[in-house]
Amino acid sequence: MNSTNIELDITKAASSKIDQVDFDNLQFGKVNADHMMYCDYKDGEWQTPKIVPYGPMEFEPSAKVFHYGQAVFEGMKAFKDENDEVWLFRPDQNFERINKSSKRMAIPEFPKDYFFESLKTLLELDKDWVKKGEGNSLYLRPFVIATENGVSASESDEYRFMIITCPAQAYYNKPIKVIFAQEYSRAADGGVGYAKAAGNYGAQFYPTKLAKAKGLDQIIWTDASSHEYLEEAGTMNIFFRVGDKLLTAPTNDRILDGVTRKSIIQLAKDNGVEVVVEKVSVKEIVNAAKKGELKEIFGAGTAATVVRVDGFEYDGTYHDLPTINEPYGTFFKKALQDIQYNRVEDPHGWTMKA
Ligand code: COI
Repeated sequence: MNSTNIELDITKAASSKIDQVDFDNLQFGKVNADHMMYCDYKDGEWQTPKIVPYGPMEFEPSAKVFHYGQAVFEGMKAFKDENDEVWLFRPDQNFERINKSSKRMAIPEFPKDYFFESLKTLLELDKDWVKKGEGNSLYLRPFVIATENGVSASESDEYRFMIITCPAQAYYNKPIKVIFAQEYSRAADGGVGYAKAAGNYGAQFYPTKLAKAKGLDQIIWTDASSHEYLEEAGTMNIFFRVGDKLLTAPTNDRILDGVTRKSIIQLAKDNGVEVVVEKVSVKEIVNAAKKGELKEIFGAGTAATVVRVDGFEYDGTYHDLPTINEPYGTFFKKALQDIQYNRVEDPHGWTMKA
């Protein structure tokens, strides 16, 4: 990553917690690396970013984020190659998207040089937390919260931008079962579905809990007005393989413009797989499943990477998906990871050395 002229205010941890961590049995997001970054917005500008040891912070109960959920976040990963170099995957996309999300949530945009200098410094200080090996990464969670005190319902005039990091393995360690949404909705037209707004995730917990009680793992959300079109899975975008064609919904104001999603669309094009980015109807997928033409469904996201769906419920009926030779999901996961771990040429210039 190129250096900038930005000076961060750095306080190093007195000692590392790394020896206390069982890296073979990580629960996603439960363990944090030694350092974090925070940067306050006040008096109309972002102040100097601070790197400090990871730890609790104090906020007043009246801080607006607690009352109105004015908060956005990102998910990114750093990977270590065989030569111990650390790489970020398409960090420019996350930077652009956090500011796009912020704009929708009336949060001031964050400066690019602050973002990249902070990532670089965190990855230098905590490089030992990025483990080598298939599936291993350091998950980076930039986020912004509204910190002005006072419960009046208007946008905050103070914010805190933070980056915390967590060593991670696969988010899903086995194929998942899903249900197509028929009752609840994730996002509305003109709403915040395309933003990584914190509330988009919190609002899914209750319907997902109901799905889990039926033995399913995730909901594939449909459009809120008709429930006729399949959109995204909430923690990831979703792809369907009908025959040899790969289908996925176009992004719109309800769907997150996933970095893994757009990378897979590009990899499909590079590898001669026909990819159809058009509205995907529930009817078409259910019919294809009945006729044996639905070969695969897989989810794609930063945390999840690529995860196979082994069946879906719709209208009270569970449809098993076949086990097939050479699934696209496995192919794209490998193609993506080969680039992320710097094992192959990176023809699109997606990776950035930390
Ligand atoms: C990510 O893939 O980084 C996400 O933000 C999904 C998350 C809710 C685990």
